Amino acid sequence: MLGKLSVGDVDCGGKRVFVRVDFNVPLDEACSVTDDRRIRAALPTLRLLLEQGAIVVLGSHLGRPKGEVVSALRMTPVAARLAELLERPVTALDAVVGESVEAAVAAASPGDVLLLENLRFERGETQGDPQFAAALARLCDVYVNDAFGAAHRAHASVSVLPMLVETAAAGLLLSAELQHLGGALANAERPFVLVFGGAKVSDKVPVLRNLLSRVDVALIGGAMAYTFMVAKGMDVGASRIEADFVQTAGQILAEAEARGVRVLLPNDHVVAARFAEDAETHISSPEIPAGQMGLDIGPGTAGRYAGEIAQAKTILWNGPMGVFEMTPFASGTRVVGQAIAAATDKGATSVVGGGDTAAAAQMAGVASHMTHVSTGGGAALEFLEGNELPGVVALTDVQTSSEGTA
Ligand code: 3PG
Repeated sequence: MLGKLSVGDVDCGGKRVFVRVDFNVPLDEACSVTDDRRIRAALPTLRLLLEQGAIVVLGSHLGRPKGEVVSALRMTPVAARLAELLERPVTALDAVVGESVEAAVAAASPGDVLLLENLRFERGETQGDPQFAAALARLCDVYVNDAFGAAHRAHASVSVLPMLVETAAAGLLLSAELQHLGGALANAERPFVLVFGGAKVSDKVPVLRNLLSRVDVALIGGAMAYTFMVAKGMDVGASRIEADFVQTAGQILAEAEARGVRVLLPNDHVVAARFAEDAETHISSPEIPAGQMGLDIGPGTAGRYAGEIAQAKTILWNGPMGVFEMTPFASGTRVVGQAIAAATDKGATSVVGGGDTAAAAQMAGVASHMTHVSTGGGAALEFLEGNELPGVVALTDVQTSSEGTA
């Protein structure tokens, strides 16, 4: 990673290494992990440290407990899943900081893995409290950040703790995320196609503006497409729109046109009178009649978008094309996901934003074909907006070869 120390460059043998991970994973009612992608994504860094004989102290948040101990958000199930994946014991501690934690770390041997209790059980975590960060610093000699998903948060374990430790390095996952997402922003091979969906335009105005300055074509789907359609004076029936953002959507379309970027909107739609798994659906084109809601891009649009994707050399996919969680409205997302997978198999580079889009790629059965599927939801958006991430800024600087001696 440009300009920052990498875990691969640090000798961690026999040292206590605090690894900030993002094990903010979904749990079911029985508190079992239902999606372990974020845990798996941290394994390469953990294995590297264990091969070196480090004492690994892991810290993560889980949910948003707001400084309270919430039983359903304890890290115990995460420790159990991690132990299965690592094929070695993982000790789940029942506190985040304090004497009992310090004693457990002091008693640990090289190769041991300890997982602190949910960092957000302590109010100081989200407040970026220096005293809380100092208590974490007492647990380690080396700091590693492998929590890309949390790197946009200026929280104690993300952006304060690394400033208190002499050696603060990027983990392998964090480096890979920055390399892939940064590569799409900086040196994408053309044609560069943006596949952009999801429910709200409002959440994604800055990222859309930043990306539209870089891509050749943008394919718009999801509910946000209806706000763009309204901006073009089209009827969208009872579809979900953001009235406050119609004007912004119109400006974005005008800016794209001025740059020569083609922005494609759906010209047919899967519609229904109600939002339900058993709803009666129709295809409507090009507009949506009164009383009907658009809930997916139609087959004609999916085919048109797939044709554009087939020409691409770089594809950035952020946001589903419809309500993919419901079978009648999943087809558009599946067709587009399959087209991205096919293009990738033929040599294109595909980068998938995290959160909903990663879940959509999984649903479409194409995640394993993609060049990179981000583990970050909000973090990926912040990065793609062009913002610096506090968790990256705080890591130890290294001189790059281009900055070498004159
Ligand atoms: C995420 O799930 O995007 C990250 O774990 C960050 O979680 P947060 O939005 O609660 O900070």
